[in-house]
Amino acid sequence: MEKKITVLPGDGIGPEVIAAAVRVLKVIGKRYNHDFQLGYAAIGGAAIDQFHNPLPEKTIEMCKESDAILLGAVGGPKWDNNPAELRPEKGLLTIRKTFDLFANLRPVKAFPSLLNASPLKREVAENVDLMIVRELTGGIYFGEKHRTEEEATDLNIYSRHEIERIVDKAFELAKLRKGRLCSVDKANVLETSRLWRQIVEEKKEQYPDVTVEHNLVDSVAMKLITNPGHYDVVVTDNMFGDILSDESSVITGSLGVLPSASIRSDHFGLYEPVHGSAPEIAGEGTANPAAAILSVAMMLRYSFGMTVEAEEIEKAVNDVFNDGYYTADLVKNNEHFLTTDEWTDKVIAKI
Ligand code: NAI
Ligand code: MG
Repeated sequence: MEKKITVLPGDGIGPEVIAAAVRVLKVIGKRYNHDFQLGYAAIGGAAIDQFHNPLPEKTIEMCKESDAILLGAVGGPKWDNNPAELRPEKGLLTIRKTFDLFANLRPVKAFPSLLNASPLKREVAENVDLMIVRELTGGIYFGEKHRTEEEATDLNIYSRHEIERIVDKAFELAKLRKGRLCSVDKANVLETSRLWRQIVEEKKEQYPDVTVEHNLVDSVAMKLITNPGHYDVVVTDNMFGDILSDESSVITGSLGVLPSASIRSDHFGLYEPVHGSAPEIAGEGTANPAAAILSVAMMLRYSFGMTVEAEEIEKAVNDVFNDGYYTADLVKNNEHFLTTDEWTDKVIAKI
């Protein structure tokens, strides 16, 4: 298959982990006879420095011509005092909105050999294999805002269309996984949540092989850390999803191994590690590339339908951990660790 991928390395450790992920992508391309055509463009701080714009028009154009986007991370102290329009994060928000990437997928899966890094007890964390599906382009973050010295408002607004498409996405994912969907809302107080719950109820007729439960967000916040193994797919709105996805990212112990996808109804999508640009370790060659490499696997699976290839990468990553090879973030003081490139070599050797 021939696929065009726009690569946006970004700032900090972004370029380092993306270089590793691209090496893996190229090996997979060779092994399975795919023609992955890569084009590089600027986003975030790097784009501000070069073009005085966190998301230059040229970058948007290149993304429009491609089948998927692979992104590193953006941000850093250098740009922290810039005005809102010239901050790296602005590039991220704009790209998600420009491409209508309404579904944010964050899988959280325990790697058995990394469980010592989890703040949870081994028996609680070891069976975790869940996916948070967060609505990403609507709700209170995008509603009308208003402020005086005496009063402030943020409008939480969801249309039927916006809810239906994210709920459909979640049902489809649940169908391909363990067939369990937990819809999270605050239907005891919010009208948006009542419409959300009603639509999930309507939709479930179309997905007879998926079992559905409705849960209130405060209760899920608690159960996600006391009994995370209970969950398969968790679908929720933008703000609840923001909070729950960060909460769930600590379950398995390390930020450096968590990938994400932001997708829409067709096959186009943006894939990026959950972690940020980690400016304090940038340039050292010690960043953990697993999250970026697993983001490539998600791209193969969700944008290109290359399930076998995606599984091969995921298995390679798991096997390298099982062999006892770790990057610096995963070892305790003075234990041996591999550099970003050395660890990537181990993954490539498995493919
Ligand atoms: P961070 O995720 O960059 O770092 C948090 C901690 O995890 C740090 O100790 C860092 O060294 C470590 N870490 C993160 N990824 C790692 C990896 N792959 N390998 C080894 N260690 C890793 O979050 P932080 O420090 O809050 O933010 C740093 C910058 O990143 C800020 O400018 C922030 O705005 C930006 N950021 C960008 C995101 C994105 O591009 N999607 C997401 C989160 C933060
Ligand atoms: Mg967040």
